[in-house]
This record gives sequence, structure tokens and C-alpha cells, in this order.
Amino acid sequence: VSGPLILGIESSCDETGIGIVRGHQLLANEVASSVEEHVRFGGVVPEVASRAHLEAIVPTLERALATADVDLAEIDAIAVTAGPGLIGALVVGIAAAKALALATGKPLYGVNHLAGHVAVDLLDHGPLPQPAVALLVSGGHTSLLRVDDVASSITEIGSTIDDAAGEAYDKVARLLGLPYPGGPVIDRIARGTDSEPAGDPTAIRFPRGLTARHDLVAHRFDFSFSGLKTAVARWVELRRRDGQDIPLADVAASFQEAVCDVLSAKAVDACDALGATDLLIGGGVAANGRLRALLEHRTAERGITLRRPKPALCTDNGAMIAVLGAEVVDRDLPPSSLDFGADSTLPV
Ligand code: KG4
Ligand code: ZN
Repeated sequence: VSGPLILGIESSCDETGIGIVRGHQLLANEVASSVEEHVRFGGVVPEVASRAHLEAIVPTLERALATADVDLAEIDAIAVTAGPGLIGALVVGIAAAKALALATGKPLYGVNHLAGHVAVDLLDHGPLPQPAVALLVSGGHTSLLRVDDVASSITEIGSTIDDAAGEAYDKVARLLGLPYPGGPVIDRIARGTDSEPAGDPTAIRFPRGLTARHDLVAHRFDFSFSGLKTAVARWVELRRRDGQDIPLADVAASFQEAVCDVLSAKAVDACDALGATDLLIGGGVAANGRLRALLEHRTAERGITLRRPKPALCTDNGAMIAVLGAEVVDRDLPPSSLDFGADSTLPV
């Protein structure tokens, strides 16, 4: 196997990730998550995340080097997430990356987190035909991207104007009295379990944000989930006021249907508009069973190839930053100077 050996560092939210790749071969992908520490707060607390990164970064790096069986001195370049993300969390990864770059004398690349979610798919599925469309959905971001080159040319064509899709899941779970993170819980309740029947996704018609005719003119590829969250809250409140039971599975399935219907419809519409043959999905919400089913159906109808990295690569990790670093090195793009800082709103 050839190609430069790249170390990737990710710390934009609640996962401390260190990945090591040689070209497109994954050698290590170690992740330490602080998700458990955020459970009692019902969402990621930035200060708690920063502290957890500080504690986890060196042990995670050591585990990754041991797993890959490489010495720090053998690393050819270091890539780190410069943004977007939580500022205090990003700072920890960037400081570590700078220290490593100074100590080893190797070039350092500050890269974009969203581009990393796109690049990681190269590990599982090889080269991406261009232009491609990427739908990135997590607790922190919800974006539709046009990808012309993974390393140098990605354009955001749409994003959420309020809550991220995962954030909507988390907030709705909370108002239903379900634990954080809400996505997997709502997904499971909607699908049904051995003891509980599945919910009916058509039971309640919740609003599909930014799909009205006038919104499709100004916001064709944008998303909005805060109105949906309010609609669920209202619905539940009225039922409770009238002393009625809350049909949890039906509410979960109907809410989920509203989210996944809009995400999949707009993603497929973007492929049509750009003439893209490939749709790539990433982020924690890409694990959602209903979203996948809808996307599989709607892409198949149009002959679009749906690409989804395996679950461990869909959520935040260091491998995605390492692969992106490999692509950047491959294009001979200049390294970052050592004085770059974290950028919480870094555009792709
Ligand atoms: O990518 P990720 O692990 O971290 C960031 O937010 O950056 O995504 C976590 C988000 C949470 O909001 C969680 O509720 C959501 O992804 N999520 C899901 C599912 N699994 C995780 N949402 C819907 N369905 C799922 N199966
Ligand atoms: Zn992410």
C-alpha cells in the first residue's frame, strides 16, 4: 500500500476522534465520546465537551498509533478540524495538532468538518463521480452540498435555517419525556419493538418545513425544523389538556415522517437540479431507518446511486479528517500556517 501516512484529529462536538490513513486505506479510527456526560443535560454542553476533549485527546492518540502500529515520526502530515463546530471543543484539537506539527516538523492542514463527512465515503466506496450531492444531517448540522472536488471544491447549496435535524429529534424526544440522544430512541419507537407495535407515520399530518410553493422559490434546498417541533409540542399539549393519552409510537412515527420526507425529497431534487448521479449521506441522522428507506426508494426511482458510509464512519470521527487530509496532500494544496484559529462557522 502506498501514499502518505496522514493523522486526522477531530474535536468539533462531543467526539474526540483520531484517525490514521495511508492513502485511502484506514489504519486506525479511535473515538472517545462524551455523550454520556451530556445525557443529564439533554444536549451537548460546550464546557463539558471541551473538558472531555482535553482529557481524551492524548490517550486517544496513543491508542490510534498503537492500533495502526506506526510511530509518530512516520506520519507524513497532520490534518485537524478547523471548523465548523463548538469553539472551545475545536480549540483542543487544533492545539494538539499544532503541538504535534511543531514537535515532528510535519505539515499541518486545518480542514473543514463537513468536507470530512464527504471525504470519508472514499474509504468505503472509492472515487466519487462529480458533481455529486451530499446530505449531511447530525445534531449540529443539516446541509445539502454540491461536491465538485472533495478536497478543493464543495459548495453549500442549502442548510437549515433554524434547528439541525438531529437537534429536532433530540428536542422532540425531550418533550415526549424520552432520553437524550433522541434520534435512536424515536427511530426505535416508530419502528416498533417486540412488545410494542410500530407507529403509524400517517396518523398525524405534521408540517413539512419550507416546502410551500413560495418557500420552494426562495429556499428550495433549505430546511426548517423548529416549526415542526412546535407543532408536535402543541399537539401533545392539547391532548394532555383534554386528559387523553399520548399515542407515543404514532407521534414518533409521524414526526419522523415529516423530517425524513423533507430531507429525502430535497436531496433527490438537488440531484435532479445538478444532474448528479450520486447522493452521499452522512452525520448521525444518516443512521435513521426511515430516512434510509425513503432515500433508497426515491433514488432508485431516478437511477441515482445512494452512498452511505458504514455507521461508525457516519458519525464524527478522526478517520474522516485523515482521509480529507490525504486528498488535500494529493492535490498539493499548501499547508496551513501555524497561526490559524478555530472557526465555529467555517464555510465549506
Ligand atoms: O453525527 P453525530 O453523532 O454528532 C453530531 O451531532 O455532530 O449525530 C448525533 C445526532 C443526534 O442528534 C442524534 O439524536 C441523531 O444524530 N441520531 C439519529 C439517529 N441516530 C443518531 N437521529 C435519527 N435517527 C437515528 N437512528
Ligand atoms: Zn459532524
